Amino acid sequence: MRRGYCGSWFARFGGWASEPPYVVSYFSDTLPDFFCLVDSRLQAARACEKFHKRFMEHVKLHIPGPVEVSEKTFRAFCSPMIGHRGQGFKDLYAKIQPQLQALLSTKRLVFLGTSSAWGVMEGAIRNLTTRKVLCCMCGAFSDKWLDVSQRCGKEAEGLQVDWGSPIRAEAVDAKLATGQFDALTLIHNETSTGVMSPLAEIAALKKKYPDVMFIVDAVSSMSAVPLEFDSLGIDLLLAGTQKAFALPPGLTVFVCSEAALAKAGTVNDRGYYFDLVEFQKNAEGSMTPSTPSIGHIYALSSKLDDIFAEGLEARYKRHADLSQLTRDWAAGHGFTLFPEPGYESRTLTCINNGAREGGRIVDVARLQKLVKDQGILIDGGYGKIKGKTFRLSNMGDETEATMKQLYAALDAGLKQL
Ligand SMILES: Cc1ncc(COP(=O)(O)O)c(C=O)c1O
Repeated sequence: MRRGYCGSWFARFGGWASEPPYVVSYFSDTLPDFFCLVDSRLQAARACEKFHKRFMEHVKLHIPGPVEVSEKTFRAFCSPMIGHRGQGFKDLYAKIQPQLQALLSTKRLVFLGTSSAWGVMEGAIRNLTTRKVLCCMCGAFSDKWLDVSQRCGKEAEGLQVDWGSPIRAEAVDAKLATGQFDALTLIHNETSTGVMSPLAEIAALKKKYPDVMFIVDAVSSMSAVPLEFDSLGIDLLLAGTQKAFALPPGLTVFVCSEAALAKAGTVNDRGYYFDLVEFQKNAEGSMTPSTPSIGHIYALSSKLDDIFAEGLEARYKRHADLSQLTRDWAAGHGFTLFPEPGYESRTLTCINNGAREGGRIVDVARLQKLVKDQGILIDGGYGKIKGKTFRLSNMGDETEATMKQLYAALDAGLKQL
C-alpha cells in the first residue's frame, strides 16, 4: 500500500522522479519510506496552505446566525469519532447534562436533537397538540409556526401583531380564554425583527391555563440571556446551536416538562424521530434515540466549558453591553431602531432603514457590499423588511474589541456611500 502511495507520488512528479535509478540502487530499502514521508509532508503543507487561504479569505459572520465559530470549537467538533451506544458517548452526554441543566435552570433532562431548530419545532407540534394551536406571530420565524402547524395537519390560529412589536401577555390571555387551544407557540427573540417578547409575563399565564402546552423557541436567545425553564413553568423550550451558542448549524438543545411528556404519551401520531417519550427514555441512559451528530456534541461540550469559565452572569452582561453598544453606534449615526422601544433583542440589533418612520436611510445592499469588502458580513434585512432594515449580531463569542472592528468597517462603508 505504501508503495502504491509512493507510486502515485512518482506519477505526479513523473519527469523528475523517473531519473533516480542511481538513487534507487543506493537506497532501495529506505527510499519508499523517504518518499512517503516527503509526500505526506508535502500533502500536509498543501492542506495547511489551502486551510490557511480559506481562513484568510473567510468573511467574518456578523449576521444573526449562523455566527462565527471559534477555532477551539472547531477543534472539538473534529474530535475522533466514537460509537453512540458506547461508554465514551454516555460519559460525554453525562458530562454536559449538568452543564445544560445549570444553563437552563432545570432539573429536567435536557435533550439533544440532531437537526436544526425546525426539526424539533415540528416535533413539538406533533407531540403536544391534538386540538388547536395558537401561534403568536410577530415576525418571519414566528409567522412560520402557523404554516408549520398546518402542514403537520393541526388546526391552528395566528395571534398576529405588527412586525416590530412584541407579543403581549394580555393578547395571549384573551385568546386562551376562548378555551379553544391546547398549545401555543411563542418565539422569545424574533430574529427577523430583533424583538424580544416578555417571556416571563406570557409564561405566567401557564398557571391560569395548565392544560395548554407552552412551546417556546429561544433559538436566538438561549445562552445569551437567562432562561429559567423550571421557574418559567413552560412545557418545551428549544434552541438551535448556530446562533448564541456559536456552534456549527445542525444541533438543537431542548427540554420539556413532565406535563409535556405525559401529553406526548397520549398522542398516537407523534412520529418517531422527534418523539419526546423516546428522547426521555434515552436521555435517562445518557443517550439519544438515534445516531446523533457526535461532532456537534463534542463542540457543545467545549462551548459549555467556555460558558461556565466565563460565568453565566458575565456572559449575560456581555451580551447586554454589546447590544447596547450597537444601539449607541446606530443612534450616533442617525439611525433609529426597528423594534418597539423597550423590547429590543440583546443578541442582535435590527436597525430601521425606512421600514418605519424616522431615522437615516441608506442603500443597505451597497453598505453590505462595502462592509463585506472589508471581510465582514452583515445582514441586509429579512423577509418583507429586507433592505428596509439591516441587522447586526453580537451573538456568540463577540467582545467589545471585535464589535468595534465591526463598527469601524461600517463607518468606512458609510463614508463611501
Ligand atoms: C427565532 C428563530 N426560530 C427558528 C429559526 C429556524 O431555525 P433553523 O433554520 O435553524 O431550523 C430561526 C432561524 O434563523 C430563528 O431565528
